[in-house]
Amino acid sequence: MIWSDLSESDRTKHDPAEVFAAGERNHHISNTAYPIAHRIVWKPYRSDEHEKRKLQTAAIERIQDFALYSHIPFCETRCYFCEYTVVSRDELQRSSEYMELLSRELKMYTALLGGRRLHGFDIGGGTPSFVEGKLIARHVEEVMKRFDCQSGFEISIETTPRIAAADPDKMRLYHDCGIRRISMGIQVVQPDLLRALGRDSNGLEHHFRARDNIRRAGFEKFNVDLMYGFAGQSLLSWEETLRQAIRLNPDFITLYRMRYKLTRISSQAANVRLDDVRDQLSLAAEILTREGYLANPGKNTYSKISNHAGTSAYLTRRVILGMPYLGLGLGAQTMTNSTISYNDGSAGKKIHPYARSIQNGSLPVQDVYDLPLAQMTAKMAAVSLYFGEINTAAFLEKFGLTLEEAYPDETKFALAENLMHYTESGNGIEIGAQKNSLALTKKGASHFNGTIALFFAPSVKEYLIGKQDENSVSPGSTGESLRETEYECILR
Ligand SMILES: C[S@@+](CC[C@H](N)C(=O)[O-])C[C@H]1O[C@@H](n2cnc3c(N)ncnc32)[C@H](O)[C@@H]1O
Ligand code: SF4
Repeated sequence: MIWSDLSESDRTKHDPAEVFAAGERNHHISNTAYPIAHRIVWKPYRSDEHEKRKLQTAAIERIQDFALYSHIPFCETRCYFCEYTVVSRDELQRSSEYMELLSRELKMYTALLGGRRLHGFDIGGGTPSFVEGKLIARHVEEVMKRFDCQSGFEISIETTPRIAAADPDKMRLYHDCGIRRISMGIQVVQPDLLRALGRDSNGLEHHFRARDNIRRAGFEKFNVDLMYGFAGQSLLSWEETLRQAIRLNPDFITLYRMRYKLTRISSQAANVRLDDVRDQLSLAAEILTREGYLANPGKNTYSKISNHAGTSAYLTRRVILGMPYLGLGLGAQTMTNSTISYNDGSAGKKIHPYARSIQNGSLPVQDVYDLPLAQMTAKMAAVSLYFGEINTAAFLEKFGLTLEEAYPDETKFALAENLMHYTESGNGIEIGAQKNSLALTKKGASHFNGTIALFFAPSVKEYLIGKQDENSVSPGSTGESLRETEYECILR
């Protein structure tokens, strides 16, 4: 592999203790959504306008095994806390036209990737269940006939309780067309808090009916999303949310710490104390473990199925193996072996530029970054810590150097401070990956934001070290424009 040259600030070394402190101080942004401060740190690697599609095409053609994500950017209402690419109300009626565009984008990539091995497929959003069920079924069918989907391949979709409760036929259609995992967003259960978050109509009263419809449709992999770390969310209210999720008896429960950056309520970040977040996390670990939901320290998804990570096949392979992924749809992110790109719409959240590219027969990419080794290893390490561990064999396989060679001072520091330890993880079993990993200890999980920063590229470390105001998460405060920072979410 020939890597891009390092930028000036990606050549500088930083003291791990200083980086750790900067990550802890900036706990609102030092997390798995990598990179941070996009405009500053990745600008030197951005392809120019004329070259970007050529670069994307060449990088895509070099992929052998991959995971696929289709983004459906429609929602009944826009929750104030949401960080994802969701279109505004005036575009909601364009969902069937949008599915057609998605299909045309898929065809463009089939010409480059057709027949290659596809390991997992996530349909996310937004709210994919917002669109007609038969359009999703058609999209699934198109995907499955174009790629090699062998054993271990699995499709996952997201829904809200309201839709799952109201439309049992849609749930059945999903299962019939081959989708096997479904994830339902609950977030929190207090009506007051939901209202304050702009999510009052999303179905609290429908949880049990939604669950029953999902189970009757045949789903044996049912995940529920919960959120913590909100301003004003007490420990007691968090406990109520956890207990309600457990009552639904899902197979998996995923905990998301609220990321305020770029949301409509970003100014509330200043009211969230790290100690309170830690208390919420340890309470969740205690209650969930007692109820038979297991996760190693620092992992966000708790699983009741033994030897199953609980996440979708798409995400599991991204996290453990650093597998390349293709993102289709508005603002979707794609990672090849050496590039990361973002589709049209990641900045403006409008369908128009995405549609125009596709109608012109061009790949709908907004920005393509040709990254150096230090940025690609950082991306893999940051995403890996979504499971609280970095699989050392997968790292070596992907980059041809060991984790310790890539991060000599940082791994020594993490081990000496008892933030990480070598372990045999259970997370690789279901996908056949070797079990050796460098994993967070309980102390490391409680200092997640500092520990993850050790693996960021030097330019990102420099940014964090220079950033003194830990509560400032809005783009304006750093001089970053919305356009440049908007696409830092991990999963899309
Ligand atoms: C694409 S979203 C949601 C799926 C579905 N539309 C829903 O709301 O139920 C996936 C998950 O991301 C989480 N999420 C949304 N905004 C977030 C934020 N600002 N920080 C952290 N997690 C967030 C929520 O838990 C949500 O269920
Ligand atoms: S959290 Fe879900 S329903 Fe709410 S705006 Fe985001 S994607 Fe839509």
